[in-house]
Amino acid sequence: MSKKMCLLFMNSATFMIIAVFFVCVKAEPLADKQALLDFIHNINHSTHLNWDKTSSVCKKWTTVICNTEKSRVIALQLHSAGLNGQIPHNTLSRLTALQNLSLASNNITGSFPSGFSELKNLTFLFLQFNKFSGPLPFDFAVWSNLTVVNLSNNSFNGSIPLSVTNLTHLSSLVLANNTLSGEIPDINIPSLKYLNLVNNKLSGVVPKSLSRFPSWCFSGNNNLTFVNAYPVKSPNSHKKRKTKGLKPALLGIIIGGCVVGLVVIVVFLIVCCYEKCGEDRQLIKSQKNKEVSEKKEASESRERNKIVFFEGCNLVFDLEDLLRASAEVLGKGTFGTVYKAALEESTTVAVKRLKEVAVGRREFEQQMEMVGRIRHENVAALRAYYYSKEEKLMVYDYFEQGSVSTMLHGKRGVEKISLDWESRLRIAIGVARGISHIHAQNGGKLIHGNIKASNIFLNSQGYGCISDIGLTTMTSPITPPTLRTTGYLAPEVTDARKATPASDVYSFGVLLLELLTGKSPLLGSEEVVHLVRWVNSVVREEWTAEVFDVELLRYPNIEEEMVEMLQIGMACVVMIQDQRPNMDEVVKMVEGISRVNSGNRPSTESRSENSTPTPHAIDTPSNSLPL
Ligand SMILES: *[C@@H]1O[C@H](CO)[C@@H](O)[C@H](O)[C@H]1NC(C)=O
Ligand SMILES: *[C@@H]1O[C@H](CO)[C@@H](O)[C@H](O)[C@H]1NC(C)=O
Ligand SMILES: *[C@@H]1O[C@H](CO)[C@@H](O)[C@H](O)[C@H]1NC(C)=O
Ligand SMILES: *[C@@H]1O[C@H](CO)[C@@H](O)[C@H](O)[C@H]1NC(C)=O
Ligand SMILES: *[C@@H]1O[C@H](CO)[C@@H](O)[C@H](O)[C@H]1NC(C)=O
Ligand SMILES: *[C@@H]1O[C@H](CO)[C@@H](O)[C@H](O)[C@H]1NC(C)=O
Ligand SMILES: *[C@@H]1O[C@H](CO)[C@@H](O)[C@H](O)[C@H]1NC(C)=O
Ligand SMILES: *[C@@H]1O[C@H](CO)[C@@H](O)[C@H](O)[C@H]1NC(C)=O
Ligand SMILES: *[C@@H]1O[C@H](CO)[C@@H](O)[C@H](O)[C@H]1NC(C)=O
Ligand SMILES: *[C@@H]1O[C@H](CO)[C@@H](O)[C@H](O)[C@H]1NC(C)=O
Ligand SMILES: *[C@@H]1O[C@H](CO)[C@@H](O)[C@H](O)[C@H]1NC(C)=O
Repeated sequence: MSKKMCLLFMNSATFMIIAVFFVCVKAEPLADKQALLDFIHNINHSTHLNWDKTSSVCKKWTTVICNTEKSRVIALQLHSAGLNGQIPHNTLSRLTALQNLSLASNNITGSFPSGFSELKNLTFLFLQFNKFSGPLPFDFAVWSNLTVVNLSNNSFNGSIPLSVTNLTHLSSLVLANNTLSGEIPDINIPSLKYLNLVNNKLSGVVPKSLSRFPSWCFSGNNNLTFVNAYPVKSPNSHKKRKTKGLKPALLGIIIGGCVVGLVVIVVFLIVCCYEKCGEDRQLIKSQKNKEVSEKKEASESRERNKIVFFEGCNLVFDLEDLLRASAEVLGKGTFGTVYKAALEESTTVAVKRLKEVAVGRREFEQQMEMVGRIRHENVAALRAYYYSKEEKLMVYDYFEQGSVSTMLHGKRGVEKISLDWESRLRIAIGVARGISHIHAQNGGKLIHGNIKASNIFLNSQGYGCISDIGLTTMTSPITPPTLRTTGYLAPEVTDARKATPASDVYSFGVLLLELLTGKSPLLGSEEVVHLVRWVNSVVREEWTAEVFDVELLRYPNIEEEMVEMLQIGMACVVMIQDQRPNMDEVVKMVEGISRVNSGNRPSTESRSENSTPTPHAIDTPSNSLPL
């Protein structure tokens, strides 16, 4: 190589290095980086942060998130970082593109940093569990995009600034556990879904615009009064409802024909009254009586109008809202009809209208309280209930995708969807965990009693989630034959109210077989064959492979797992209930099958658990598999 060429090469190499360096540097929000360094060097913190001056903010620094162009820092999540002391002046306020800021659960002192008013794009602000003190910022309106604000558990004092009423995107406002005083401003923001002002020193009247939140969102305050305990609908929400009136309202569906009957009765009574009570005195007397009873009725109906909600300071609605919501029948089940009710654009719930409730108010409420307290990712949460003599309603989350039964078999107007093997495994695992959790409630006395594919939905992670808990105990004893027709009821159960954990296990076994075979629990149209009997006969004839849903045969390398699930299913549906495994054992077995689950579980352990055949499992000769 000549000297010249060598020089040229060296030159271009240097140039490249400089270029690379330049590009690297260019892709850094340098000003934001310096602001963060200035911040962290001037506040005591016990947690080590890898904020190295020489490394890339966007790529290396934990707790920091940049925009896609890597030109600005848009999120800083410094919760529980052991920060101690005041926020240094003119540091974080330079991160003007910040959208998310969390400094929650530290020991930050001082007043609300005035520099935060520079963070005009701020959308989520979490400062809860610190030692901030002094007044809240005067002008909230500078954060026009602010959506979630949590300032709870600090020592903020003074009043809630009027300017919060200008935050049109606000959806959560949590100011609990401070020492705020004065009156609550009229926060008439339709998007506000969650409000918590618990434990402050607020006084005066709760504005009407906020009376749609339950009273405990305001509890622990000095001297707050409620003018109107019942939700007042904003004119806005009325308008919204009007524009989407195409679907019939729940009320319409429920009473439908009854109205005609009611009018006839009223007319009859009036005619009757005029004929019988000719005398004026009597008429006046009866009118007085009527007035008294009307008053009584009105107060009773107000009481009746109360829907009981579980947990939280979420937006509430009353019976009127519910009945007026646009509705659609989702299905008719053993215990009643389920409707989809759309309250507002963002709030859709499933409402179950119970029939044949054979217990009184007290027992009903006790059962609802027990079921309503259950919060588990594999149990569909009961959000609210309603009880009156003529109407019993249960309000659940609405699951967009429909039930597992609809997925497997379709229903009128809805095509079935193809569920792959992993989805079916996730359903089985989720439901098993859900039932096991239910069986652990109330000292082991809570039974599901009605496990079937149409009561099973998918949670956000695609795992099974079970609904409709504990209704069997409240219905009249006539129902077992009705239950029998669904094919999930254990043979020993003669009174649906006396379902047992073992009968739940049986029903779960039927569900497993349903997931495996893709067949409904009752087969055939003329001569009904029970799925359990069919599976048993096929397996006995050593045609095991024929059991499985043809749709599943598309997926490679799952035969072993399908056989494992078959064995578990058959163990659950043995005739003698003492020989069935309990639900905890079933959970372990089902989890043992799964590959999907190996990520968050010691898979070797569950594997070995599974490789010891359960005492109840029927040995399926794997050589009968032609696969
Ligand atoms: C950090 O803590 C030490 C000891 O408590 C204190 O002397 C110092 O002033 C603190 N520094 C800041 C910036 O708050
Ligand atoms: C705020 O966000 C918008 C949209 O993401 C962006 O265009 C704007 O530049 C941001 N403002 C600041 C000060 O960064
Ligand atoms: C901001 O926080 C919200 C809620 O915690 C989250 O959904 C969102 O992804 C976050 N945005 C960024 C840019 O981190
Ligand atoms: C706050 O400081 C106290 C001691 O002053 C300490 O006990 C506590 O753990 C700290 N809290 C956090 C969240 O760092
Ligand atoms: C904040 O709101 C403005 C309009 O008010 C909008 O242009 C901007 O994109 C929003 N910023 C973000 C981060 O959403
Ligand atoms: C606000 O903070 C409290 C306390 O940490 C927490 O319980 C609550 O879930 C938070 N709320 C929101 C909307 O982030
Ligand atoms: C708020 O607390 C500070 C002390 O932290 C006190 O000086 C101030 O007077 C209080 N303000 C109100 C309105 O109570
Ligand atoms: C709310 O915003 C309007 C218009 O921007 C302004 O005139 C008004 O003063 C603001 N109200 C409060 C309480 O900040
Ligand atoms: C307020 O403090 C109480 C009592 O410690 C606590 O139970 C509650 O969760 C706190 N609320 C919030 C929103 O932080
Ligand atoms: C939250 O604040 C309440 C009262 O302000 C206090 O009793 C409680 O201990 C605080 N909780 C935590 C976890 O700091
Ligand atoms: C509570 O508030 C009402 C009116 O808002 C007032 O008349 C009454 O004196 C207050 N009571 C106390 C104990 O502060």
